[in-house]
Amino acid sequence: MKRTCMAVVLAAGESTRMKSSRSKVLHPVAGRPMIAHVVESLVGASISSVALVVGRDADAVTAAARRDDIDGSAFVQTERLGTGHAVLAAREAIARGYDDILVVFGDTPLITAAPLMAARRGLADGNDVVVIGFRTADPTGYGRLIIENGALLAIREEKDASEDERKISYCNGGLMAINGAKALDLLGRIGNANAKGEYYLTDIVEIARAAGGKAIAVEAPETELTGCNNRAELAAIEAIWQKRRRHEMMVSGVSMIAPETVFLAYDTRIDPDVTIEPNVVFGPGVTIESGAVIHAFSHLEGAHVGAGAAVGPYARLRPGANLGADAKVGNFCEVKKAEIGAGAKVNHLTYIGDAFIGARTNIGAGTITCNYDGVNKHVTQIGANVFIGSNSALVAPVSIGDGALVASGSVVTEDVPEDAVAFGRARQEIKPGRAKLLRERYQAEKAKRQNK
Ligand code: UD1
Ligand code: CA
Repeated sequence: MKRTCMAVVLAAGESTRMKSSRSKVLHPVAGRPMIAHVVESLVGASISSVALVVGRDADAVTAAARRDDIDGSAFVQTERLGTGHAVLAAREAIARGYDDILVVFGDTPLITAAPLMAARRGLADGNDVVVIGFRTADPTGYGRLIIENGALLAIREEKDASEDERKISYCNGGLMAINGAKALDLLGRIGNANAKGEYYLTDIVEIARAAGGKAIAVEAPETELTGCNNRAELAAIEAIWQKRRRHEMMVSGVSMIAPETVFLAYDTRIDPDVTIEPNVVFGPGVTIESGAVIHAFSHLEGAHVGAGAAVGPYARLRPGANLGADAKVGNFCEVKKAEIGAGAKVNHLTYIGDAFIGARTNIGAGTITCNYDGVNKHVTQIGANVFIGSNSALVAPVSIGDGALVASGSVVTEDVPEDAVAFGRARQEIKPGRAKLLRERYQAEKAKRQNK
């Protein structure tokens, strides 16, 4: 599209019904603030100029909306006098002159690029106002779209609607596109003579028509316009987002055995031919290569899983975990800021933190890298083809050379050279017959007590 466009993102609401100490647009959906989802959709619709209207938590909201690929400016709406008033907080930015002005809400994170583009096409077709609408079984609380012969005559807010108008199920999603050349003039004519005494952005439809312009509505799916006013709606939005993204992943080749139990983050990247078993949770920053399997009940965040690797069941990959091809991290293992080399195995009940593990190395059950001395973190280096016996404690900083073997139960405090064996535990002693003697003594003592 050749036309220039700026989006005004309204995020100055009080968020009263969220009952939160921070603005609702900062609450996360799929692991990032909902306002960031809205801005991403704008970018998806090729919009690179954004004017953000903020109220409470202005700095945090501005930071959450910031991106390198948009030219953004923020405006504070000091009094909350309605959506029409809010858009005019960005007067200065609108005055720069754009072909299209798009108004979107910061609390509608499921919006996609498609309806935004459709609204802009409506302007290109000669309309002055294009409203994004949706149909719903329960229109309570929404502004109703009054349509006649395809033209949008007016939007009637619930509180100002007649009984007949309230029966209309076609609603205002709140988002609209306005002819940029006329926007400031039209917005300036909005008054507040209504049931709530607010400056309603929605009045712009009748104002544009009275000035000889045309208005239409374009329909979008209801789910895309779900707004977040309270925590129940936040959870509903999360559920819709998750369902949508799981579907996208499955059709692109990812297997999910019980998709409804898998939780993805906004940036989770999974290649085709990966299998995700039930009850897996992804925090931000995870990438998984083809052929890997994530077994049930695993939690991954900030981690990379190489091709053909296996994780879990019941594994935890924390930020900086990097598994090479065909590596295995098994049940009740935690890996943090560590490289696990190709084909290496960390299969049972182990903590690996701040470590490098070479290719094909086997880490026995119950191994712990003791990376923290209470003040600082230290690194454990383990070479390739190493065997670490079960229940070993590797006290960092320490390094273990290629091909070395650490005897089970060792506390390793000194570096182990290549191909060496390290015993870091007391030598075993054998006392022949001693167990029998002890047993007889204990039985005699017990009999004596019972005969008293
Ligand atoms: C609005 C629409 C309604 C529509 C509904 C869809 C108006 C008058 N009504 O109603 O037709 O069906 O959205 O969800 O536009 N905001 C500010 N400053 C203000 C007022 C609002 O920044 O002074 C922001 C809010 O933070 C929010 C958005 O604008 O992101 C919408 O405001 P809200 O009060 O939720 O509007 P609704 O009553 O839901
Ligand atoms: Ca709302």
